[in-house]
Amino acid sequence: MFFIVGLGLCDEKDITVRGCEGLNACIFGGVHEYSNGQQGTTGTYTTLLYAVLIDQALTKEEFYGKEIIIADRDMVETESDEILRDAEKEDVSLLVVGDPFGATTHTDIILRARALKIPTRVIHNASIMNAIGACGLQLYNFGQTVSLVFFTETWKPDSFYDRIKENADLGMHTLVLLDIKVKEQSEENLARGRKIYEPPRYMSIPQAVSQLLEIEDQRQTGMLAADTTLAIAVSRVGGGDGNEKIVCGTLAQLRDQPAEKFGQPLHSLVLVGKRLHHLEAEYAESYAVDSNSWRETAKTVYGYEASGSDTTGSGAADTPYQTLAFALFEHGHDAKVLLRKDSASPYDEPTQSALKKAKKGADGLEKKRKKAEEQAERDAQAGKEERERREKLLEESKKIQLVEDANLPKAVKTKVENLAPLRSQRVRVSGWVHRLRSQKDIIFIVLRDGTGYLQAVLSGKVAHTYDALTLTLESTVELIGTLQPVPEGKTAPGGHELIVDYWRVLGAAPGGDDAFTNRLNEKSDPSILADLRHLVLRGENASSILRLRAYLMSAFRASYAKHSLVEVTPPCLVQTQVEGGATLFKLDYYGQPAFLTQSSQLYLETCLPSLGDVFCVQESFRAENSHTRRHLSEYTHLEAELAFINFNDLMDHIESIICETVDRLLRDEAAAALIKLLNPGFKAPARPFMRLSYVDAIKWLNDHKIQHEAEDAAGNPIKDAQGNVKMVDHAVGDDIAEAAERQMTDIIGTPVFLYGFPAELKAFYMKKMPADASADGKGPVFTESCDLLMPNVGEIVGGSMRIADMEELLAAYKREGIDASPYYWFTDQRKYGTCEHGGYGLGVERFLAWLANRYTVRECCLYPRWPGRATP
Ligand code: 4AD
Repeated sequence: MFFIVGLGLCDEKDITVRGCEGLNACIFGGVHEYSNGQQGTTGTYTTLLYAVLIDQALTKEEFYGKEIIIADRDMVETESDEILRDAEKEDVSLLVVGDPFGATTHTDIILRARALKIPTRVIHNASIMNAIGACGLQLYNFGQTVSLVFFTETWKPDSFYDRIKENADLGMHTLVLLDIKVKEQSEENLARGRKIYEPPRYMSIPQAVSQLLEIEDQRQTGMLAADTTLAIAVSRVGGGDGNEKIVCGTLAQLRDQPAEKFGQPLHSLVLVGKRLHHLEAEYAESYAVDSNSWRETAKTVYGYEASGSDTTGSGAADTPYQTLAFALFEHGHDAKVLLRKDSASPYDEPTQSALKKAKKGADGLEKKRKKAEEQAERDAQAGKEERERREKLLEESKKIQLVEDANLPKAVKTKVENLAPLRSQRVRVSGWVHRLRSQKDIIFIVLRDGTGYLQAVLSGKVAHTYDALTLTLESTVELIGTLQPVPEGKTAPGGHELIVDYWRVLGAAPGGDDAFTNRLNEKSDPSILADLRHLVLRGENASSILRLRAYLMSAFRASYAKHSLVEVTPPCLVQTQVEGGATLFKLDYYGQPAFLTQSSQLYLETCLPSLGDVFCVQESFRAENSHTRRHLSEYTHLEAELAFINFNDLMDHIESIICETVDRLLRDEAAAALIKLLNPGFKAPARPFMRLSYVDAIKWLNDHKIQHEAEDAAGNPIKDAQGNVKMVDHAVGDDIAEAAERQMTDIIGTPVFLYGFPAELKAFYMKKMPADASADGKGPVFTESCDLLMPNVGEIVGGSMRIADMEELLAAYKREGIDASPYYWFTDQRKYGTCEHGGYGLGVERFLAWLANRYTVRECCLYPRWPGRATP
């Protein structure tokens, strides 16, 4: 048998009767340093629980009547095999001071013994963790225990301070274990590998207090105050008169006592929290250095009218209460409360009249507390009864088995959206429990199957099964019953409801903590909503937007078909840029550089000679670090390209496609209903769309006093003396920034084509406007380009005529510093039968944001991607 025997805290006699049983064994005395595992502290500590044996029990072999093998830390940690060697055949005891489980090394050796199939026995005893109650403070009100190590010149670990603060903020006491150094080698001996040990050292109480105050001095939170923080020093707890010493006082008083006053090592120190019962204070008072000051300080609590808190304050000077009444309620009418108006004023006593009033307030609070307690008791009782009633009901429900009535007409399997013609018939529908309302004998379910919502009513036997009583939101169910119009005066989706006669659960969703509504609700944080997008999609709003998106895509395709554009599917993996290199996602493609496409425009151009006018619906990728509500890293790009047109034809075409698509949606009953639901005020835009040249737009902005931030040559904002960014008027040649553009569209309030942007601001492929005969050739060159801007959203379409002439295109590559060789296939379009052509790209999410009046494009796609987000 392997025993671990706990010895008490004072001397060799502190062994239990049971412990003595283990003494017939081969004894290892656990003189043992160990890492005490305090969170955040580093290094190895010796702990006071153990080394007491060194100059005590272990030398007293005669007391145990046995030879004792000293098991130091090294031995327990590395030679446990040696300790356990004979334990299989005979009894072996490891004696440790304090509780056997005060060190993980001991837990470990027991595990090893078990692994060797050696029977083990642990004999407990007092440890400082419970014997500290000797100082009179309630063990329940102690927080985390901390260790205080000897500071050196260069090493002053102070993470204990945060632990003490956590305790103090809750009003709790902290047990501080003071460092000891036993079996320590000097640095020199350590370096030389000489096993010569320094004499043992024990941290004294004055030293501990000085170290604590040193750290307070650095941290300056006011948690520890020399004159107002109370502490209790203890040593040799349980050792009886002459041995046990308990001394209490303020930190300053303890610091200033001679070290002998605190008795023999080992020492521990308790920092007294504000949650101090008057009996605790009274008990400790007999050990006080100065009884009067102990009593006064113990009953002093602090309040701070401006920013103290009755909910999070502890009554300590650094975490005061807010009201005097609450302080008296918490600490009794005898408490001495000091108040201050603000953190700069000193604490002072309240006036007599304030005190009188506050006592009344405290009594009121006490009454309230009592009442709340009584109510809580009543609630608990009611809860218990309700639980019992429910448990009984559940037990009974297990006996009810549903069987489908074979005599009823066969149910027709259908989707919710096709139910209308099946009224009065028996139908079978499957879906998710979208809403659930249980009354005494009747359960209302709103079922969702993706095509719509159906109200179902379960009553009688079908509502009393175990499945019915434990049904949860988002479970999948199959419901069978007769479809009936809703009773007069009631409403339900589709105007009908299913009277269920048979049903079953297909997949139960969890209840309790993991219930759907606990994962997600309307108040969830945006980042949680983003992480749980897969669940958000089940909601009415998100699914309506996605459904409208599907209608929108069909309507676009129908409009293109009418205009004889053929749909093609260009690749996503590309090796050429379209809209400039800055926003490309680069990747390694079998050792070659490649990109995710920014636009399929160049490929569409190559389709013109083959298929005529074409369009595509393809994902585009933009590596812009834009966190705006209009930017996605991946978006659905609807692009079209048309041959043998001029710039006016292009803008007319864009306008037609958009207006025809909107008209088509509004003609479709289901799509129109969704638009009405999401954007009740929506009106189809009037034609023709306003067209505003870039030069006129600059003038318009200046006329409307819409300015932009001034930038230096490097693009950095120019600030005035106060550090405010300077705002300046727009000038021809400036990029019209998003903010200005949005203000403009919002003021104009209708779709606007902005056209004719300077070439420097636009992509290499854009066709130049015919030169103005009156121009001097020094101004900017404008392009046949256009952006379509929509109110609330801004730019939703970007398009242009393309350079048709090969030489001009080659010059454009050169001007932009683009290597022409990878573009050989694009250049070839100009070589083998060129034509005037143009096209555009429309951001589907932006279009949908406009149509459905959504705040951000992130709501308008299935799984939005933006900088940093590609999950789910
Ligand atoms: O104006 P852009 O960059 O034009 C092109 O890519 C052209 N090559 C298209 C073409 O002519 N075939 O982008 C076109 C549209 C924008 O008007 C906007 O609606 C959308 O694509 N868009 C974005 N949508 C969401 N997030 C982003 N980061 C977007 N960048 C552009």
